[in-house]
Amino acid sequence: MTDGPHSPAAPRRPGAHLLDALPAYPLASLPARKRELLQAGVDLIDLGAGDADLAPPPRAVERLQAAAADPRYSRYPFQLGLPAFREAVAAWMERRFGVSVDPFQELLPLLGSKEGIAHLPLAVLNRGEAAILPDPGYQAYRGGVILAGGEPWLVPLRPEHDFLIPLDRIPREVVDRARILILNYPNNPTTASAPAAYLEEAVAFCRKHGLVLVHDHAYSEVAFDGYQPPSILEFPGAREVAVEFHSFSKTYNMTGWRLGWVAGNREVVAALARIKTFVDTGVFMGVQEGGIGALESWEDWVPGNVEVFRRRRDAGVEGLRAAGFTLEAPRATMYLWVRAPGGDSGAFAEAALEEAGVVVLPGASLGEGGEGFFRIALTVSEARLREAARRLAPLAEGFEGTAAG
Ligand SMILES: Cc1ncc(COP(=O)(O)O)c(C=O)c1O
Repeated sequence: MTDGPHSPAAPRRPGAHLLDALPAYPLASLPARKRELLQAGVDLIDLGAGDADLAPPPRAVERLQAAAADPRYSRYPFQLGLPAFREAVAAWMERRFGVSVDPFQELLPLLGSKEGIAHLPLAVLNRGEAAILPDPGYQAYRGGVILAGGEPWLVPLRPEHDFLIPLDRIPREVVDRARILILNYPNNPTTASAPAAYLEEAVAFCRKHGLVLVHDHAYSEVAFDGYQPPSILEFPGAREVAVEFHSFSKTYNMTGWRLGWVAGNREVVAALARIKTFVDTGVFMGVQEGGIGALESWEDWVPGNVEVFRRRRDAGVEGLRAAGFTLEAPRATMYLWVRAPGGDSGAFAEAALEEAGVVVLPGASLGEGGEGFFRIALTVSEARLREAARRLAPLAEGFEGTAAG
């Protein structure tokens, strides 16, 4: 090829102003390194992603199978989706939380809760307004705010505040230009739960300052020892300011199905539906039918599934403590949040991978506020968790390049 006057110009980089503003997605470089190690015959224990190794409820699968054979389900779902799905979700929220939501005005099916979380800022943020976000936190919060032209205001979640956002410490000028507060309890990655009084305070704070309160409740059902995390919509006045995101991914081992919903303030729900009208055409109705089957399995299937995670939690906590690590036993979520020996979570995660063949998530990859910790996901058997803890034991006292932990 010659570079003459008529040769086409090099393609311009697409959307660079937004791409450059986005943080690197955690684990982005991990798959390639994992593949190399696996090809080299390393027996990797992957505790990186929150993606369970267990099967979904049989009733969900049966309903999806039947729906797939029925051509009526193959039509466009649009944002309305399957009315029976909306009704089943509303009925479940009533059963579980004692909260009644209008299935057609206060609820919207989502292609996984991530999709709704990431699109929400487009519906409620004005350009340049701030969103108050937990740090570390699920990266779709930050990405969605940046893509909407907003400013993420990250608040570190630290042990001295029980991993809660200290609302009274957010600078007044930030509160004044903020439109959104995102909370996520039970929390990924810190595994913290929020006391009811805190959630009540958050509702009052958002009402006082005119913020939309976004509660990400992806782990509402993965809770142990009798703990039942409340819905934000249970608190007085919440419906005026709050929406809550729910997911089938963790409760029912349905990460790949891409199904969730948002419920709460009707103006916010309607605004999100309007944005989505231009983005997607709804969740496959067969998947929504499967979702009905999952919700029907809540009473008799979910407790057994949660018990698997409870046993894994105990095995992981015992194993890691015996290996010399410092961590709390969480009341909820499918994770453990562990102090990183030496304090540099990236260096620890790299040593865990290269020296122990164990994939962990460095806390700092979910935001600087996560530095000093690493996260493990309870997505392998108890035996493998114990094995992982044994392999990590030599690193608990510090490792090459770090001070003793
Ligand atoms: C805190 C949190 N919120 C939301 C999600 C998204 O779940 P999904 O999009 O699969 O419903 C996840 C998944 O890991 C999560 O950890």
